[in-house]
Amino acid sequence: MREIRKAAVIGAGVMGAGIAAHIANAGVPVVLLDVSRQIAAEAVEKLLRAEPQALMTPEAARLISTGSIEEDLARISPCDWIVEAIVEKLEIKRSLYARIAAHKHADAIVSSNTSTIPLADLVARSSAAFRRDFLITHFFNPPRYMRLLEIVAGPETSGPAVEMVAKFADVRLGKSIVHCKDRPGFIANRLGCFWMQSAIATAFEQGISVEEADAVMGKPFGIPRTGVFGLLDLVGIDLMPHVNASLARALEKDDLFHSVNVALPFVDGMIAQGLTGRKGKGGFYRINREQGKRKEAIDLVTGEYHAAKSIHVDPQVSLITEDSRLGRYAGAVMLKTLAYAALLVGDAADDIHSIDEAMRLGYNWTWGPFELIDRIGAAKFGTLLNTAGLPAAPILAAAANRGFYRGRSALTLDGIHAAIPRPEGTLLLADIKAAAAPILKNQSATLWNLGDGAACFELNTKLNTLDADAFELLNRSIDHVVKYQRAMVIYSDATNFSAGVNLRALLAPARAGDWKQLEAVVELGQQTFKRLKYAAFPSVAAVAGLAVGGGCELLLHCSAVQAHAECYAGLVETSVGILPAWGGCGELLSRWQASRKLPRGPMPAIMKTFEIISMAMVSKSAVHARALHFLKATDGITMNRARLLADARARALSMVTGYHPPEKTSFTLPGASARAALEIAARSFAKQGKASSHDMMVATALATVLSGGETDITRGTTEATMLALERAGVMKLARTPQTIARIEHMLETAKPLRN
Ligand code: NAI
Repeated sequence: MREIRKAAVIGAGVMGAGIAAHIANAGVPVVLLDVSRQIAAEAVEKLLRAEPQALMTPEAARLISTGSIEEDLARISPCDWIVEAIVEKLEIKRSLYARIAAHKHADAIVSSNTSTIPLADLVARSSAAFRRDFLITHFFNPPRYMRLLEIVAGPETSGPAVEMVAKFADVRLGKSIVHCKDRPGFIANRLGCFWMQSAIATAFEQGISVEEADAVMGKPFGIPRTGVFGLLDLVGIDLMPHVNASLARALEKDDLFHSVNVALPFVDGMIAQGLTGRKGKGGFYRINREQGKRKEAIDLVTGEYHAAKSIHVDPQVSLITEDSRLGRYAGAVMLKTLAYAALLVGDAADDIHSIDEAMRLGYNWTWGPFELIDRIGAAKFGTLLNTAGLPAAPILAAAANRGFYRGRSALTLDGIHAAIPRPEGTLLLADIKAAAAPILKNQSATLWNLGDGAACFELNTKLNTLDADAFELLNRSIDHVVKYQRAMVIYSDATNFSAGVNLRALLAPARAGDWKQLEAVVELGQQTFKRLKYAAFPSVAAVAGLAVGGGCELLLHCSAVQAHAECYAGLVETSVGILPAWGGCGELLSRWQASRKLPRGPMPAIMKTFEIISMAMVSKSAVHARALHFLKATDGITMNRARLLADARARALSMVTGYHPPEKTSFTLPGASARAALEIAARSFAKQGKASSHDMMVATALATVLSGGETDITRGTTEATMLALERAGVMKLARTPQTIARIEHMLETAKPLRN
């Protein structure tokens, strides 16, 4: 199969720049063009400042070269994939395609990022050759973080062209591909806009407040907390009338969409006043800075802002049948939305799982609409639709007594349950769980069999935190793998790899003054991680999301890491007034000592490690984690989250033959002189007001560990000594009221306390 080695993006606005950045994140050079060279160049400047970061490292920007359509269009000729992301105007897009056709190489593929225009219209005037190489690739904003990519192929689009783009987007850009039919709004926005418009129109109709609507449209249905009004504030309220108008124009007269697309004069009035959401002067919510950053909500009758109320609703889908004000609101909106979802089967998509996937990944719903119907009960849902006088799509009858999903199978248009196809090389632990029982299990963790001699250690605690049970099972898992398996992968399907020690396990003994117990927790972690490091089998940490504190120390002790590109690793212990004491100080220091990036001698590595740990630095991507040496140069990076487990498993098995545990780590550290140098550095921070007196105390404890304690450069320092220093440091800090206050604050607010 052909490959994409170089790409072009035309249109350097919000989407075009974001797509170009993400292609660069994948390591592929990209040409970015706009109406003027200046606009394109400024777009890259903006990318470098974007929050959340669009680029995984600033260096990735070097892969983006900019220019203008007028002067530089010839530069697209070596490109294998050309993405069009200019204004949403049919005529302008069409004339651009004619110019692209004159410059692109014969096999280059062109795709449009249009959000509403059907493919048939886009290429109505293009040549047959152009149509063969043309498709729609609909990214979501922001392109780096939103995992959904909707692809639409026309009747003439060549199969290999679709395959080539889909494969690149999947493996290199990490996107989950949903194939859509050439229908207005494709899947996610067609249903998403229906849901938003319905939720808002119904709120006005039933006199439901902004806060009430968002409470109902959030947790009960597994929808993000922003609900519907909060979501509109985020995407821009002014976008809504445009998208709705274009959907209304394009959809047939009998489409259910028209029943929710009613005029909303209140919202039009807000837009006219510049109340367009977070980017404008405020929206349905605003932050009132005069009143100490108070969150306010708009009254949908008077248009006045008031302090936002917190509304509690029972987080159950059964809310839709509840005979209450909010229950009736939930029922009116969600029944209709789910009825519409069912009508899209065979229209916008050929299968239900594409629709579910589009809503999970495009709108961050926990459950797609058909999963929601299964939760309600498909038969009951049918009855509810009848009672409400809503249209029931044919597929609902087939689902009535069997449900939409059965394990990994989904109901098809033919009325049977068929296995959901998955691209080769994707694997979830959920698949393993559906097929077999665990090997070992306790309250906090489980060991699974991945086959071929690979076992998977999975954490099951909240945020995958580590406690005594987790260590107990990790120890038993090590014994098991030594006897019966060949390699271990540490992984879970959860969003985060691990948030580190369960702080409650530290707080209880510290509050009670039970220092023996506290030291036992520290020692258990140290011994278990070193057992893992020196075990006779290879271990691979498959890391995605947060890997902080003890979670980061866990990955530092594995033989290798396979990281998802979105890997946020850091030794953040100082933010709760302690220091890494499960071997993290020594492990990170030894990596920096081996680094060729630093000048020779022990001091530069000590300084660097001190800086990273004392500032609680967390990587903003896997590539950044590599720069901080949380990952080794040889550790792997996987762009697609769904491929992480399979990649880690392959990695672990590839290391089995001839595997030797590492040699014992030893250090040559300067002792007192290094400690003094680190303390001077910390003091200058304190003088600038950047560090408190407790920060100084934590820094001093860290300096003692990293300098090797009572030693000097003529003597070696063992790993055991480093562990003893870490223990002494953490035990000293845990006895201070400031550290206890930091831990309590973190547990209560999930934010660090600066005391
Ligand atoms: P934007 O307004 O941020 O950027 C459009 C870019 O096109 C601008 O940089 C502009 O200079 C350039 N442009 C304007 N007139 C042009 C012309 N005559 N020839 C060439 N370039 C021209 O728009 P945005 O949001 O980036 O949208 C681009 C495309 O992506 C549209 O088709 C839109 O429907 C689609 N889209 C937008 C999403 C969003 O969330 N904003 C999401 C998914 C798709």
